[in-house]
Amino acid sequence: MKTRNISYLRKHLLKFYKKHQRDLPWRRVSDPYAIWVSEIMLQQTQVDTVIPRYQKFMQEFPDIAHLAAAGVHRVCEAWAGLGYYRRARLLHAGAEYVLQEHGGVLPRDLKKLERIPGIGRYTSGAIASIAFGMQTPLVDGNVERVLGRFFALKHEVKSKAGQEALWTWAEELVQGPEPGDMNQALMEFGALLCRPRAPLCAECPLAKKCAAWAVGDVDAYPKLKARVERKTLKLALALVRDTHGAFLLEQRPLDGLWAGLWEPPAALGAKAKKDIEERLGIALGRVKYRFKHILTHREVIVSVYIPPQTRGAKTTQVLKMTEDPLKEPLSGPARKALERFLA
Ligand code: ADE
Repeated sequence: MKTRNISYLRKHLLKFYKKHQRDLPWRRVSDPYAIWVSEIMLQQTQVDTVIPRYQKFMQEFPDIAHLAAAGVHRVCEAWAGLGYYRRARLLHAGAEYVLQEHGGVLPRDLKKLERIPGIGRYTSGAIASIAFGMQTPLVDGNVERVLGRFFALKHEVKSKAGQEALWTWAEELVQGPEPGDMNQALMEFGALLCRPRAPLCAECPLAKKCAAWAVGDVDAYPKLKARVERKTLKLALALVRDTHGAFLLEQRPLDGLWAGLWEPPAALGAKAKKDIEERLGIALGRVKYRFKHILTHREVIVSVYIPPQTRGAKTTQVLKMTEDPLKEPLSGPARKALERFLA
């Protein structure tokens, strides 16, 4: 029964993929490094956001040697707009590792791939199947949804039992022809048709055997844990300009929020304003405007100050002065604050 459904799934997913796959830049290449970069970018970022940044990234770092030779600051800057900067630091560390351990060539071996910094079970499965044509499974959010619905997975999707079932199904599915296309078909199907909200069940080629559809409750699958509340965080920003109107920007540390990106003098926490005043040695005056910036796990309340008097301001951070700050790789809140100020 299970086996029959697996071959049914394989057949219809591949057919769907051949007909409806999007023409994406990383699908036009077979370079394993390009697949690696794209898969890391796609893990937590939407396709439309990834495309232009992927293309720029590949121009600047066309191969593993170039990426390994670049400074990690520069790699984080090139990551601007993609979020989750830990991925950029790990990708850079991964390139250094591959250069040292494998002469700059990604190994055709699942276990060796998984030893590379930043490459886990998903990414090794993606690189091995898509770039090397190996029958290696992968499970991402799309796969969880497609298989979780099709088989009406009874466990909570992130639970140990839930993940074990999903990886087992994904493993069975990929034991056939065209494993790279098979994995991409699963994900593409989840992105285009078996969508998180308002899935297109009326036109779904799998509906006949979809267990969630059969019980009339597609929205109940996959079963999710209750959402956690976002923590609130306070951020203060001081827009400091010199007599020529150039803005003072500082670079954030390479770990933590907005790693390696640029912003006007800033501080986090309840005493943020005072911290900036002490660091710069000037008074910030009253808050000029305030807005919310939403992250996955946090809600940031941003208070923007425009100090009435900036003479004598001093900074101890890595800094630059610029008259065109919007051209810089800014943190999300800094970009919003400056866009509003300049509008
Ligand atoms: N999501 C992440 N990687 C993908 C791929 N290669 N195809 C479709 N969706 C994806």
